[in-house]
Amino acid sequence: MGRVPAAVIEVRDLHYAYAGGVEALRGVNFVLRAGETVAAFGANGSGKTTFLNHLVGLLRGRGAVTVCGMELTKENLPAVRRRVSMLFQDSDDQLFMPTVEEDVAFAPLSMGLENDEVRRRVERCLAAVDLSECRQRAPHRLSAGQKRRAALAGVLAMDPEALLLDEPATFLDPQAKRALVATLRKLPQAKILVTHDVGLAASLASRAVFFERGRIVGEGSVRAVAERFSWG
Ligand SMILES: Nc1ncnc2c1ncn2[C@@H]1O[C@H](COP(=O)(O)OP(=O)(O)OP(=O)(O)O)[C@@H](O)[C@H]1O
Ligand SMILES: [Mg+2]
Repeated sequence: MGRVPAAVIEVRDLHYAYAGGVEALRGVNFVLRAGETVAAFGANGSGKTTFLNHLVGLLRGRGAVTVCGMELTKENLPAVRRRVSMLFQDSDDQLFMPTVEEDVAFAPLSMGLENDEVRRRVERCLAAVDLSECRQRAPHRLSAGQKRRAALAGVLAMDPEALLLDEPATFLDPQAKRALVATLRKLPQAKILVTHDVGLAASLASRAVFFERGRIVGEGSVRAVAERFSWG
């Protein structure tokens, strides 16, 4: 018997209601293990983004979230954010510095890394998303697909243990999408991939979960889950 890889993220009975009363999460249980990629499917409004927001402490619900063995609390939020990094569904929520390279450098600098190390990470991450030539550009003037890749470079620059990817391929042309898949496949991190694209999920994820009205109602191989819920 092989050993079961360590849990990077563990979620127990998570509930969350937005102000105004929408019950967006209604008892989510979930484990992400080292090295695996899990696809998250589910209809618009089923709670996928709300779920991811809890894993980086942007929202706090009822229930427990554990990251690399640490229960997510206000005190260890900075430590958690060094280990789990999220690519937002809307890149405009992520990009805020005057240039692309400053944006990618922002998190490593705020983690207190040396300038040389920051420069190396910026080079490496911009190259990984094929955006080196746009480094001096203003993020808000990039195309939608370029913005997405710039945001991904910023996420990779943190060198996290887990990546949360909320619709990473939106706006990408077929070639950029293939490049994204190749980039993500090379990364050692555990990943949660929220997507409506079953093909993308099949090329990256070893299993899938299905969200329905704030709960995970099924899991299995990507193909099995897509078939069971007539998804894709
Ligand atoms: N800031 C907010 N305030 C109030 N309700 C919200 C807010 N954000 C999301 N909701 C509601 O919470 C529910 C879950 O939304 P969420 O964005 O998590 O869904 P999702 O699965 O990510 O959908 P999509 O596939 O469209 O991205 C929906 O009913 C949504 O309208
Ligand atoms: Mg969403």
